[in-house]
Amino acid sequence: MKNTTNEIRQKFLQFFQKKGHTILPSSSLIPKNDSTLLFTNAGMNQFKDFFLDPKKKKYSRVATSQHCLRTGGKHNDLENVGYTERHHTFFEMLGNFSFNDYFKKEAIIYAWELLTSKKWFNIDKNKLWVSVYKNDEETYKIWLNIVKVSPNHIIKVGDKNNSKYNSENFWQMGETGPCGPCTEIFYNYDTKKNDDFSKFLENKNENFIEIWNIVFIEYNRISSTKIIPLKYKSIDTGMGLERISSVLQNVKSNYKIDIFKKLIKQISCFSKITNLNNISLKIISDHIRSCIFLIYENISPSNEHRGYILRRIIRRMLRHAYKIGIKKNSFYKIVPNLIENITENFNFLKGKEKKIKEILKIEETQFSETLEKGLKILNIEIKKISNQEISGKTIFYLYDTFGFPADLASDICREKGIKVDLNSYYLEKEKQKKQSNIGNKFYKNFNNIININDTCNFEGYKKNTIKSSIKYIYVKKKIVSLISEGEEGTIFLDKTCFYPESGGQIGDIGQLYYKKSRFIVENTKKYGNTIGHIGKVITGSFEINNFLYTKIDKFYRNQIEINHSATHLLHAALRKVLGNIVTQKGSLITNTRLRFDFSYPKIISLSNIQKIENVINTEIYKNNSIKVQYCSLEEAKNKKAMALFENKYDSIVRVVSIKNFSTELCGGTHTNRTGNIGLFKIIAQSSISSGIKRIEALTQSQALQFLHNQESEIENISNILKTKSTNFKEKINKLIIQVKNLKTQVHIFQEKENKYQIKKIISNIEKIKGVKLLINVFNNYDYNSLKLIIDQLKKDFPSIIIVLINKNNNYFNIIAGVTKDLTNYLTALEIIKIFIKHTNGKGGGKNEIAESVSSNVINLSKILKIIKSWIYSKLENKKDNIHE
Ligand code: ALA
Repeated sequence: MKNTTNEIRQKFLQFFQKKGHTILPSSSLIPKNDSTLLFTNAGMNQFKDFFLDPKKKKYSRVATSQHCLRTGGKHNDLENVGYTERHHTFFEMLGNFSFNDYFKKEAIIYAWELLTSKKWFNIDKNKLWVSVYKNDEETYKIWLNIVKVSPNHIIKVGDKNNSKYNSENFWQMGETGPCGPCTEIFYNYDTKKNDDFSKFLENKNENFIEIWNIVFIEYNRISSTKIIPLKYKSIDTGMGLERISSVLQNVKSNYKIDIFKKLIKQISCFSKITNLNNISLKIISDHIRSCIFLIYENISPSNEHRGYILRRIIRRMLRHAYKIGIKKNSFYKIVPNLIENITENFNFLKGKEKKIKEILKIEETQFSETLEKGLKILNIEIKKISNQEISGKTIFYLYDTFGFPADLASDICREKGIKVDLNSYYLEKEKQKKQSNIGNKFYKNFNNIININDTCNFEGYKKNTIKSSIKYIYVKKKIVSLISEGEEGTIFLDKTCFYPESGGQIGDIGQLYYKKSRFIVENTKKYGNTIGHIGKVITGSFEINNFLYTKIDKFYRNQIEINHSATHLLHAALRKVLGNIVTQKGSLITNTRLRFDFSYPKIISLSNIQKIENVINTEIYKNNSIKVQYCSLEEAKNKKAMALFENKYDSIVRVVSIKNFSTELCGGTHTNRTGNIGLFKIIAQSSISSGIKRIEALTQSQALQFLHNQESEIENISNILKTKSTNFKEKINKLIIQVKNLKTQVHIFQEKENKYQIKKIISNIEKIKGVKLLINVFNNYDYNSLKLIIDQLKKDFPSIIIVLINKNNNYFNIIAGVTKDLTNYLTALEIIKIFIKHTNGKGGGKNEIAESVSSNVINLSKILKIIKSWIYSKLENKKDNIHE
């Protein structure tokens, strides 16, 4: 095939290389060090700093083919995928960039040459149209006078609000960041009707497609209302590889270009669909690419942030897979084939197949149930609506209760022609968010009362005691000038050696004292930039502006420090043993234990748990020193320090490193050598939400104590089993067999006993109107056998009412049975209800069998008489003597 997608990518890069551009690889789909973006959404993202800061620029001209994902934020195409011929979640963007080098004229001439020159893409000039920003006369003139595009083929657009057009020819990366006016090049598939371009821009003509966007980066957006000019001007261009391929392969749909055609055909083979234009096929072929690339980037499905986007994409893909007949819980099986297909164009994916399949398999298992329940409810709700619009409340309920993503519900509704009230969905979501924040309100208000601009210096990294002065005292949430003996409150100082609860590490305890006055600090917390010492005055009093000494409980702090360092070892060991898929989600570090939450999709096997413990304990035996260093954020990143880079860090950061085993940005306190940890033992793992695991562990004497407890437990069991622990297995197996045999024997005896009892009690059968009635009272009989006796009697006697009572030590069971033919006259449940009424008992059942229990039976024979006469009365009117 001529012009394969791979060849087109190659040609583009070659062209710009010839024009003096450096060819750089695509950057990661996860923007590095840029918390304003969830995913890379354009080729220019990786060069954001080059545009903004002339000092940072490393190149003047660059060209790339960038992997992009548009599923959130300013650029979100997820919902269009499948319904149009050109939208994708994942796609490649070809782009050339100039940083204070060439500008409008050259950028336009390059683009025109590549598109139209016979040597390159050789597109007929008559099929190309351009749009320019409404008052960008310079660009207009370049197209008209230099490139010589006919004025009929140039259109001025701008500012969506004041224009009838959908395009605005002003491009912005996100809510903030580099931006500027742009000029766009369009291809017209329909050469006969050339005059419909403006209609296209009004979204009314499908024949035009935008193929290339050339952005003149001149501004930096600071906020939604503020935009400032940049020091120099740059070029950022973007051409969707899949789109230009559809033009050059003359197929009019991205889903018909070589790479998609192959993929769609392959998916259709596993489905019941043969029409390759099917929307579900398009959606799956698009989404699987995103899934593969996101998992490759170590994102795993979860309920938050990037993980949630991945989860939504997977779930949308799976629903469409099931819709076209791929069996439930089996989509993951076809994944290796799809990966193999996709890998042909992306070599670096090789070797990742197993992990991708594994993650998709786990997610599929989890989702199948959700889907079924969610669909059921959605269908019920859809049936109820009258105005073809479903409420946002319902969509929120599905999301909140079953993890059924709103866009999935919208997708399903859209297929049925039903609108979704997304506004009310977002309102519900917001409401819930607010409600869950109510718990935090106290401290928020508290923060407001305290001057949060106030600061308290933490000097506790090196010192256990310092002299300080009191700045504020709070008692019962009010500022006071004095706190006296017996009073509880919070004291704020100008400096302290008490570490406030943060970064997972709990707050210090200790005392504040001056002369004979003592304040016991029970906890330490951060309030803005200041630190509150929470506790109680046990002797004397403290007054604002007075001096005092701060003294932490050193032993308590040491234990916390040991656990904090052990947590760093755990973090590094998890990544070593389980892979870089592990990312920290939270931690709790106390004086007695540690807890670490992280993303990992599977249960960790015992052998891996033991491996992790071995790795950590080996680091402990090495007794390496734990070093703290301050450096610039940039340096820390170069050292590959672990951090939540989405967090905001100061430009100077604190780095805690343990030889070459672990390096983390951390503000917490640490022990100075790994040997101090003594011993590390994992005591539990659990799953705290989908895809997030929690490990709990102990160190030092607590770890040893844990092992001792286990040992004692084993000894106890040994004593009970009367054998050594090495013989446990054998002994338990023997006991299991013994119990089984005994059960069989008991069963045989019980059956015999039941037969004997039946023989004995049938002599008590009375007859009323041809109906047999048997009432019998047992003492401490096997309750299950009573039911069996009733079943047997019903078989032996076609028309019978049976009431059996079992008197136990403190309570009575009553069980009633009525053969079906009699249930028109009276039911077992009615008999039981009489019993319940007279005994305050509990029970229930059906017409043919019912039961109850009561401990409040004062006069059983009287109750039985009542029951009997009620049965008589019910049968009195019976005319025929059935089954005599
Ligand atoms: N950054 C521009 C775009 O994505 C080229 O359209």
